[in-house]
Amino acid sequence: MTDIHIDKSKLPVHVAIIMDGNGRWAKKKGLPRIYGHRAGIKSVRTAIETARELEIKVLSLFAFSTENWTRPAGEIGALMGLLSRYLKKEKEEMKSKGIRFVVSGDISALPAKVRQEVRQVCEYTEDCRGLVLNLCLNYGGRQEILHAVNMIASLERTKKTQGIIDESAFRRFLWTGNLPDPDLLIRTSGERRVSNFLLWQIAYAELYFTPVLWPDFNRNEFYRAIKDYQTRERRFGSIQ
Ligand code: FPP
Repeated sequence: MTDIHIDKSKLPVHVAIIMDGNGRWAKKKGLPRIYGHRAGIKSVRTAIETARELEIKVLSLFAFSTENWTRPAGEIGALMGLLSRYLKKEKEEMKSKGIRFVVSGDISALPAKVRQEVRQVCEYTEDCRGLVLNLCLNYGGRQEILHAVNMIASLERTKKTQGIIDESAFRRFLWTGNLPDPDLLIRTSGERRVSNFLLWQIAYAELYFTPVLWPDFNRNEFYRAIKDYQTRERRFGSIQ
């Protein structure tokens, strides 16, 4: 239970989260890092349930960055294993709860089995009309922008584009496709960086940093972040 009152008329449509601090959570408990990631999955479930409860439309979760490949092979393998198990386990529940699962990132670099599972869940839930769960996998904001630029350049060479590329034309080439921009970006674990996450899309997002480590980010913490967001005055460059 939480006694935090949320104004339902001022909810963010899209919340993006940098789920940080799994390793430190495990270390504090004298456990191997993978235990932190396992505990992190529990928080993923709680965040999804809380987003549904609050009727947030889109939840983006940064699960694996383009830079995460530099981690030890054992940790990468364990993360892929967790992802694979998560997808198998949650597939039916996502469908029954109307959750549409989408992915942002270059999934061609993921192990073939994981890639296939990711695609299957995307297809299986594509008609769902509830929460959109955007899992960012092998995602990097700069890479996404370069990918879009290269797609446009190759279309340009074959003369398939028409004239000037404006913002709305450009965003269609981003991995996030038709999703609205995040209104709120949350980062756990006390770091105050955006770490190459949704660089184009967070131009006007409100930023919320909390010292809470991701495995401890529960429903109450999510409510606190939303409550804080509701105190912000969003001007989008204007004066009122
Ligand atoms: C950051 O903690 C977290 C990650 C790199 C991965 C996030 C992954 C999960 C929450 C579990 C897998 C998710 C799904 C949906 C299957 P860190 O390891 O960088 O922590 P540290 O900064 O304390 O070392």
